[in-house]
Amino acid sequence: MTQQVKSKQRVAEHGEVFTAEREVKAMCDLVKQETERIDSRFLEPACGDGNFLSEILSRKLAIVKKKYRRLPLDYEKNAILALSSIYGVDIMLDNAIACRERLFAIWNKEYKAVCKKECSEDTREAARFILSRNIVCGNALTLKCVDENGQDTDEPIVFSEWAFVTGSQMQRKDYTFDELLNGDDNSKKKKAKKEQLTLFNEPQADEEGKFLKQYISDYRRVQDNG
Ligand SMILES: C[S@@+](CC[C@H](N)C(=O)[O-])C[C@H]1O[C@@H](n2cnc3c(N)ncnc32)[C@H](O)[C@@H]1O
Repeated sequence: MTQQVKSKQRVAEHGEVFTAEREVKAMCDLVKQETERIDSRFLEPACGDGNFLSEILSRKLAIVKKKYRRLPLDYEKNAILALSSIYGVDIMLDNAIACRERLFAIWNKEYKAVCKKECSEDTREAARFILSRNIVCGNALTLKCVDENGQDTDEPIVFSEWAFVTGSQMQRKDYTFDELLNGDDNSKKKKAKKEQLTLFNEPQADEEGKFLKQYISDYRRVQDNG
């Protein structure tokens, strides 16, 4: 069984207790249909090293494989879509890094198994880049990025919304959620609730957060807009 506690200090300071696999699976089963939809978006605001996100990614990739295992290009594109729909925040830098690495390892193992000689380093780089944007080291309560000591910085957490527009063209739209903090209490609660339920489903800037930037590129080159 995986370790659920790393140290007493981490439990006391950050409430860091990892969820066991059995509970993770049982909880994911409660939203089974969504975990098996390739592009359904999940955000875990205290993701640790990714116990929930890795289960969700594995389930999504199993569906991608079932549908596209004989079509490497379609598999690749949909595996990127699955990865790009998964988001996490953790206040501890080592957890955020471990979570990215873990998700990449799961993604890459399946990619290799299905696409074999058709795998490309560009696509791997794209997957790593998406993870570097989607798994954020930050404070989910203040929505600020944190420094290596877990202290808030002035930088707001920015989330990227990824979507295919035409063919292999992928769009990235960046949003900051800092106005959730600055609005009055009622609108703050309303928006926070909506965000929990829909995350990006209705990407109007004044509804979901402040819209920052938009990029469009081939999905294998999203890293060019670093
Ligand atoms: C109870 S653990 C759960 C980890 C993971 N979700 C799991 O179930 O295995 C809580 C996690 O939240 C992180 N955390 C604590 N306060 C946080 C905050 N304000 N913002 C983001 N993450 C936080 C901790 O570093 C820890 O990894």
